[in-house]
Amino acid sequence: MLAQTPPMGWNSWNTFGPDIDASVVLETIDTFERAGLKAAGYEYIVIDDLWEADARVDGRLTWDPVKFPNGIKPLADYAHSKGLKFGIYSCAGSHTCAGKPASYGYEEVDAQTFAEWGVDFLKYDFCYAPPGISGPSLYRRMGQALRATGRPIVFSICEWGTHKPWEWGAQVGGHMWRTTGDIADSWQSILDIGFRRQIGLDAYAGPGHWNDPDMLVVGMYGKGNAAQGGCTDAEYRSHFSLWCLLAAPLMIGCDVRQMNAATRAILMNKEAIAINQDALGRQAYHVGAISHGPEVASVWAKPLEDGSIAVGLFNLGERNGRLVMVAWEALGLIENRPCRVRDVWRGEELGVFSGSFTTRVDRHDVALVTITPLR
Ligand code: GLA
Repeated sequence: MLAQTPPMGWNSWNTFGPDIDASVVLETIDTFERAGLKAAGYEYIVIDDLWEADARVDGRLTWDPVKFPNGIKPLADYAHSKGLKFGIYSCAGSHTCAGKPASYGYEEVDAQTFAEWGVDFLKYDFCYAPPGISGPSLYRRMGQALRATGRPIVFSICEWGTHKPWEWGAQVGGHMWRTTGDIADSWQSILDIGFRRQIGLDAYAGPGHWNDPDMLVVGMYGKGNAAQGGCTDAEYRSHFSLWCLLAAPLMIGCDVRQMNAATRAILMNKEAIAINQDALGRQAYHVGAISHGPEVASVWAKPLEDGSIAVGLFNLGERNGRLVMVAWEALGLIENRPCRVRDVWRGEELGVFSGSFTTRVDRHDVALVTITPLR
């Protein structure tokens, strides 16, 4: 079964947008190996919109000959030769969001084309959808067409949460579905898409089917296609921690060829990734928000397979050193149960606690901990 844990990889859109080409893809594949991203679990190399030529040839989608002079299959083959997987983009309407030919009415032939190229992942967007056919039906058509190819292809639904895809995404063959519009590289966007819009969606995620709060902006620092001011390292750490807790697909959106030490430390933290990839496949629930005026703390909890609970204690306010607390009661633990607490970002055991755990968290930062009941 595909996507038993949230898919991990890279997508071209956030940084490259229209400027994606074969050499970026090849260098990204090389970087996956060289920089340790592959070893950390990142697997899918996904080309987003604007890989396409302006028109079909013999009824088939084809590539932009300038950006991809040798076509798409050699890129998929190269990814496979490095033990990676390869993904591409199309759209459920007549055109992609950037106006290129898309798959409405061509679902079967396009799925076949992608399978022939060795595609392992399809991101499927929702622009230019024809009137009179429901969103779920359009996605069902491509889900069916992909299955009929016989090739295992992760089906990534991107209809921005318009028709509550968490309610039907898995039934039409989706392995993940976007829950919102596009993320931007700003703290405001992380607050809105991550902290506000994911509340209550945890019931819909599980092995093989995941809520997708969009690609990561970690490491973009205001550069690229989704640019907007950028974030601090603390903000990127909070963003990544939340996505790990949410069991979100971890699709890197920065230019991995240019990662600095802070970006590498965030994207390749083994313990944070293990929380995201935990076999139980639970998405964190929102424990609660505590606010005193603009000083907001937010707490999220993700039950793990071994009986531990991963907890994110976030300071969304502007003051450093804010105390943030989680009570055992909110985690489903008996009050006096002693638990071992480990700080993920520090890589440190913090000791044994019962009843509750409280820690200081700086502005826009997070304490990501695992809480392990002692027997
Ligand atoms: C939509 C999607 C984005 C990206 C662009 C490409 O906006 O939501 O993630 O794929 O289209 O045009």
